[in-house]
Amino acid sequence: MTNTPCGGASIVIAPSILAADPCALGAAVGELEGSGATRLHVDIMDGRFVPNITFGFDTVSRLHALTALPLELHLMIVEPERHLERFAACGAAGITVHVEVSPHLHRTLQTIRELGCVAGAAVNPGTPETALFEVTDLLDCALVMTVNPGFGGQKFLPSMLGKVERLRQHFTDCSRTADIEVDGGITSDTAASAVAAGATTLVAGTSVFHHPEGAAAGVHALQESIVKAAEQHS
Ligand code: DX5
Ligand code: ZN
Repeated sequence: MTNTPCGGASIVIAPSILAADPCALGAAVGELEGSGATRLHVDIMDGRFVPNITFGFDTVSRLHALTALPLELHLMIVEPERHLERFAACGAAGITVHVEVSPHLHRTLQTIRELGCVAGAAVNPGTPETALFEVTDLLDCALVMTVNPGFGGQKFLPSMLGKVERLRQHFTDCSRTADIEVDGGITSDTAASAVAAGATTLVAGTSVFHHPEGAAAGVHALQESIVKAAEQHS
């Protein structure tokens, strides 16, 4: 999964399909073709780790068949290690698990890599970033939740920016170039602050798929907000 140059910086926009009409997922991913989005973020929820239930294996397979965009699966499920192989077989390019439900996180990340996927670990707002430090070498992507997971359309938690900054510093100190992803409440008003803190990937559901001019316009609006902020600070 590669980054797309955006206003001098290399920032990835990963639209979250959770915000699309569940009966029209094909049309939704079609709207992203040529938009500048470089990954599709797929939120898998089990009604246990989080209160909501969303997509399963078949939907992931169908999405993989429908789009050339790499699929990054954000597993908000208990015992994620039980399902890694099957999700990889369904076409996942990346798999992110939550540290809160991954007692054997080191082994789980190893397995994700062995399956040929980009390995990610996510931390809830109430979980410190230090929960990721012991697996630094195995992390391709650190996902900082900027809302409490489970639902789209929530308000961005600015207090999470400190966590992003501290993670960025940690990776710099360790000479690691791991991706730092933020997820939840990312809009044209909040994207630039996340990038300034050190985020390299922005997951955005509502602001992309509910944009009045369509999903591609939603992606462009996010990109423009980042470029504008970068210009103001140069
Ligand atoms: C929330 C999910 C997010 C969600 C983001 O638990 O992990 O990926 O889709 O949605 P917005 O961008 O609407 O906050
Ligand atoms: Zn997500």
